[in-house]
Parts: sequence; structure tokens; C-alpha cells
Amino acid sequence: MTARRPASPARIALRSREELAAIRAAARVVARTIAELREAVRPGIRTRDLEHLAAESFRRQGARSGTLGYFGYPGQLCISVNDEVVHGIPGERRLAEGDLVKLDVVAVKDGFYGDAAVSVPVGEVRPEVARLVRVTEEALWAGIAQARPGNHIGDIGHAIERHVAAHGLVVVRDFVGHGIGRAMHEPPQVPNFGEPGTGPLLRPGMVLAIEPQVNLGTAAVRILDDGWTAVTADGAWSAHFEHTVAITEAGPEVLTLDA
Ligand code: MF3
Ligand code: CO
Repeated sequence: MTARRPASPARIALRSREELAAIRAAARVVARTIAELREAVRPGIRTRDLEHLAAESFRRQGARSGTLGYFGYPGQLCISVNDEVVHGIPGERRLAEGDLVKLDVVAVKDGFYGDAAVSVPVGEVRPEVARLVRVTEEALWAGIAQARPGNHIGDIGHAIERHVAAHGLVVVRDFVGHGIGRAMHEPPQVPNFGEPGTGPLLRPGMVLAIEPQVNLGTAAVRILDDGWTAVTADGAWSAHFEHTVAITEAGPEVLTLDA
């Protein structure tokens, strides 16, 4: 989601066992849909074709898109290619060998939301792009490892940025992760940078969407004339990974892993 400062002051929901089960079910839809889309990614396919597959997957699983109609967003999912960072709109574009496609999927099932994103190489990508993808996914997992009771939101972002910076890359600062559950975007904001021990305290029952975007060049982004697509200011490529994660007594439970 788009970062707004100051952070929303509203309280952070603590989910009951029943609510958590419902979020888990929505998250499973997301995971399944991403797995199907990943299989379909190949040179020549149009992003609109992937959108149709996503819509069919949601329908089959008794769910619907969480992005379609969100502040007027026109897509069943977000598809962002190469220098597009997030919120790309599916259309006539055909994927080509060497592209990097980011699939960001939000599903709603029985009133609850799940949200995840992956970066998928189309065929063989340049080595620096393969490395970008690897470091971004590792950064997500470094952030997830901090999502446990007693830690703070800042611990998540700190771990993410530290991993990214250690590899000479930069995190995008204009978008943040977020709480999720009865809406796609709930408090708290989850920045991909931060200071350890700062921000809201993490407690069992919280559910967070953690979603680093990492660039090969500058961190700066701009929005295209379509009003949605965020691209890097310098045209360098970007990667994005996201999971929906529940904070439990035992630590992080990643809800959007494919089962
Ligand atoms: N993962 C994205 C986000 O949290 C999905 C929403 S895209 C939107 O911002 F276009 F619907 F906003
Ligand atoms: Co999200």
C-alpha cells in the first residue's frame, strides 16, 4: 500500500481463532492462485491472460479479487513488469524472454483478506536480475523471522533493509506492508526499513502483510499517467515479494505458502 505519514493511529486487531481460520482460508486462495499463475508465465502470454486465470482461480475457490474496484483499481490482480514496481494493470502486454514479472494477488473469501506477491523470471533473466530476485525474497524472509511476540514493527523493517543494503541494493520507501484481515489494508503500516525496538509492539493474533520492494538503481518511484502503475524513477528493474503472516505464540505463521 502507499505509505502515508504519520502512521495510522487506529488500533491493531487481535484475531480470534475463528477469524484466523478465515484469514487462513483467504490466504490459501491467494497461494493457490499464485501457484497457478506461476505455471502459466511464459514468453508470449499477455498479462490479460494471467488476469483471466486469476479470476477463474478465485471463482473456483469461492473467493473474489480484493484489488478489483479498490479505489477504482481496474484489475483482478496487480501485474508489474521489469521497471514497474507495484500496481501495474493487466492488459495487452505480452511477456518476453528475460522479463521479470511481479504478480500481486489479493483474495477475499467470506469477508476476509489474504495478500501475497512473487517475482517470476520469464525464461532466463540477466544474472543481476536473478540476484535481485533472490535478495528480495531473502529480505522478505528476514523480515518474517522478526514477526514474533515481543518484537516491534521496526524490527521487521530493519531486518529487511539490512539484508538488502548488505547486497548493495535499495528498498522502496514509498510503499509499505500493512495489517490485513477484514480489509486489505489495516493498521499498522509495516515499512521496509526501521529502527529495532521501535513502532507498535507485536502480539499474538496480529496478522501482517510484509512486502519488500527492492530496486537495482535508485529507490525513487513515480506513478504513470494511468494513475496506478509505479515505476522506478531511473528505469532500473525492481522485485517484490509478499506474504501474509500471523503472529502466534510460537512465532510467525506464513499463511500464503502454497499447500
Ligand atoms: N499488495 C498490494 C498492496 O498491499 C495490493 C493492493 S494493490 C491495489 O498495496 F491496487 F489494489 F491497491
Ligand atoms: Co499488500
